[in-house]
Amino acid sequence: MSDGYFGEEVASTYDDDPRMSAPEVVEPVVDFLADLTGGERALEFGVGTGRIAIPLSNRGIAVAGIDLSRAMVSRLSIKPGGERIAVTIGDFATTRADGEFDLVYLVYNTIMNLTTQSKQVDCFRNASAHLRPGGCFVVEVMIPRIRRLSPGENRHVFELSESHWGIDEYEVPTQRVTSHHLVTADGGTRRYSMPCRYVWPAELDLMAQLAGMRLRERWGSWHRDPLTEESDFHVSVWERPHEGDQRSPDE
Ligand SMILES: C[S@@+](CC[C@H](N)C(=O)[O-])C[C@H]1O[C@@H](n2cnc3c(N)ncnc32)[C@H](O)[C@@H]1O
Repeated sequence: MSDGYFGEEVASTYDDDPRMSAPEVVEPVVDFLADLTGGERALEFGVGTGRIAIPLSNRGIAVAGIDLSRAMVSRLSIKPGGERIAVTIGDFATTRADGEFDLVYLVYNTIMNLTTQSKQVDCFRNASAHLRPGGCFVVEVMIPRIRRLSPGENRHVFELSESHWGIDEYEVPTQRVTSHHLVTADGGTRRYSMPCRYVWPAELDLMAQLAGMRLRERWGSWHRDPLTEESDFHVSVWERPHEGDQRSPDE
């Protein structure tokens, strides 16, 4: 299996960006997830370098992970606490990790790395299959930025800083979006493009329903701020109902 878009070049600098790795960014995520597990077992889809998994396991939670990139996971395994994270190499849309979990989570837009609707549905089914009844699946993903485009336009500049130019190129009929990046570091410049599939909250709810789960909470931040017209992303929590619990998501 290849490392996909997260090979050695990405993995070697992945943890350097303080906008992702600073404690004030990581701690609210870990607080939110720790509250949901009840202190037991959690599984991260796309566990990467352990940015979230290691601090979550530092709270006494047994954390496992699935990832297809050996380059990313090799960073996790050499960090203090990395030895506690049991990682399975594979595609999180279909790969099974051992055991049953209180929580499965998929953060930082990583569901968009699955580039078709059917793979995203498979991912919800796989999450549900790992959960004990009453367990939760958490997804953090951006609200598609197509509302920022003028009619006829398909490109959105989402970052234009000294070290990073980022442009999303939207293809509305397929819900594909290609993220183009130009990154300057250590005197060199690297250009790469990553294909993704954007997805709306309501479509995710339908995927959850197909997988036998229902919406429990949805927020506009990890601090549980309400989701509003201005929100850039959402944090959604679906639960796998207990046997015999027939309530619909709207009840
Ligand atoms: C943006 S990184 C996020 C890593 C980590 N969750 C974090 O928050 O820092 C996405 C990760 O998901 C992994 N990934 C992407 N698509 C995947 C797939 N279909 N199956 C397994 N892992 C995947 C990548 O290898 C990478 O490690």
